[in-house]
Amino acid sequence: MNEQIKKEALKLQKELTEHSYNYHVLDDPEISDIEYDMMLKKLIEIEEEFPEYSCPDSPTKRVGAPPLDSFNQADHSIPMLSLDNAFNENDILNFHKRVVKNLNRENILYTIEPKLDGVAIELKYENGILLQAVTRGDGITGEVITDNIRTIRSVPLKLNENKIKIPSLLEVRGEVIIKHPDFKRLNKTRLENKQNIFANPRNAAAGSLRQLDSKITSTRPLDIFVYGTGLVNGISFQTQAQMLQNLKSFGFPVNTNIKPGVNITQVLKSYKELENLRSTLAYEIDGMVVKVDDISFQKQLGEKIKSPRWAIAWKFPAMEKTTIIDDIIVQVGRTGVLTPVAVLKPVNIAGVMVSRATLHNEDEIKRKDIRIGDKALVIRAGDVIPKIVKIIKSHRDGTQTSFQMPLKCPVCNSNIEKTKLDKSSINKCVNASCQAQLKERLKHFVSKKAFDIDGFGKKIVDQLVDENMLKSFADVFLLEKEKLADLERMGQKSADNLIKSMKKSKNVALQRFIYALGVDHTGENAAKLISKTYLNLNDVMKTTIEDLEEIHGIGSETAQAVCNFFSLQENTTIINQMIELGVVITNTQISEIKISDNPFKNKRIVLTGTLQSMTRSFAKKQLENFGAKITSALSSKTDFLITGENPGSKLEKAQNLGVDIMDETIFIELLENHK
Ligand code: IVH
Repeated sequence: MNEQIKKEALKLQKELTEHSYNYHVLDDPEISDIEYDMMLKKLIEIEEEFPEYSCPDSPTKRVGAPPLDSFNQADHSIPMLSLDNAFNENDILNFHKRVVKNLNRENILYTIEPKLDGVAIELKYENGILLQAVTRGDGITGEVITDNIRTIRSVPLKLNENKIKIPSLLEVRGEVIIKHPDFKRLNKTRLENKQNIFANPRNAAAGSLRQLDSKITSTRPLDIFVYGTGLVNGISFQTQAQMLQNLKSFGFPVNTNIKPGVNITQVLKSYKELENLRSTLAYEIDGMVVKVDDISFQKQLGEKIKSPRWAIAWKFPAMEKTTIIDDIIVQVGRTGVLTPVAVLKPVNIAGVMVSRATLHNEDEIKRKDIRIGDKALVIRAGDVIPKIVKIIKSHRDGTQTSFQMPLKCPVCNSNIEKTKLDKSSINKCVNASCQAQLKERLKHFVSKKAFDIDGFGKKIVDQLVDENMLKSFADVFLLEKEKLADLERMGQKSADNLIKSMKKSKNVALQRFIYALGVDHTGENAAKLISKTYLNLNDVMKTTIEDLEEIHGIGSETAQAVCNFFSLQENTTIINQMIELGVVITNTQISEIKISDNPFKNKRIVLTGTLQSMTRSFAKKQLENFGAKITSALSSKTDFLITGENPGSKLEKAQNLGVDIMDETIFIELLENHK
């Protein structure tokens, strides 16, 4: 009897998977919705009674799993980069020139794809089964949203094996989207149910993927197109076009408006074609992605910190609207730089009310001849701060007034220093303890991604600085409940909560701590990369520019800024004060667990020869982080000899002593695999 039920479950699982693929990927259903629902209902009943007959790729998993308390985090095996933007033909031709120059060959072929405006995710298949789905997050770490992704009908829970052998590991990257008709229907239902409507399909997709209850996600009309891979074992691809072809035969939806293997002339021509197609497509696209087709060329070109050198996004012009510039004010930033900001008559651009636009600097105002009272064309491109494209000069009636950059800081009245950077000049308040700078630094310090002190909003920082209660980062940990409660608009309860969250924040991860300091050129990513390399704050404070530059993803500006920051006594004094006040900084990136599970742990290692990919001291530091002991003398107790170029006499000695020899390639591979 049970055997028969098992057979039926397997049959239903197989058939439902096929029907789902026909419907959602091929757009060619073979049975009616009702028939599908009946079969699914039957399978749900069987699996509820006999859970042993269910499996991770059963179509029943698409209806959602029990709600989660929070999302787990997972590191990407290979960082998920973003793309550089091109805005015109010239930018694309320059990109092409760089590719030609770097590869030292003409006749480059590209694959061009629509740039989908959705949410980037990564799907991990082990032996053909979808086991994990992760958001892009910060590119290095994302949130595990497997249950939510399983609800997307067009995502295969199991790879098709009809043409190509299933690889043991396949990480696939793509964009979750919502198609226009589905989006309209979703908002209509929400309106009927008196729920807030989503501003655009991307927000709706992002919001749906953020649900802790995957049953809610399962009610959202999410869809996906895949466009690339992460780490892959057991299969290789020669070209981007071939990779997409293979992904398609595994059962993934691949966009149909992709052009494989085209030359630069065809790339230029295709942009207009795609732009014309844009309004006819069922989904939102915001540009065209141009990728070098040959994957060995992609590897040769490599990556920069945040983006590959082998691909570029040629953006479509973003949404623009005209409005009036009511005023131009000047803001003082964290580093003292004065930025003029246009105060606009509020205008709705693609679902978002815009009332401010950055004017960057004085030169930009002069160049564009921007005056108070002008009518301006404002652009809101993606998540970027709105900008003024141009002034509508025909609107001028003589009432417009020109803007003058103040000669003194509008906040502390100190002198302004003018410096030239590239072609534009920067105005900076010379007073390092200018209230405005201090306020901005403190707002950053307590913000969500830094110390994350709940209830410590921007207004409170302003208030506390104005009241002289905050003069440095360390003062945050000296705040007292009674004094806080006395402040205007504060009260006992808020003061109490603020102190509680301040105390809680004292246990801080190293990466957050570094980020919180607001060092120039050191954002979240850089802070994370640094804490993946150094065991503790002390090691970071002692490091050198050369060692920091060895970290893949850290550039020379960041390396210099970090070393400069820690070389200033006033900064180290404040850090020491914080530690005395109970701030405990833990490295959560290099955990004990990692140390306990790697091939270098407790090994005696000797390094010899010149390493090509890093300095000797950096290699030593890395190995020590993995729990290895580095010695200079080779003996029979040595576990490994790591050899660079020209290893000298140590190599022969190691061979005689029977010590294991590891060349640089294997060393780097092991290091990377265990990070
Ligand atoms: S390739 C290293 N292809 O654009 C290559 N990305 O700005 C990076 N996107 O995070 C991705 N359509 O979310 C690629 N056809 C496409 C894309 C695409 C949309 C998104 C993706 C990525 C962002 C990069």
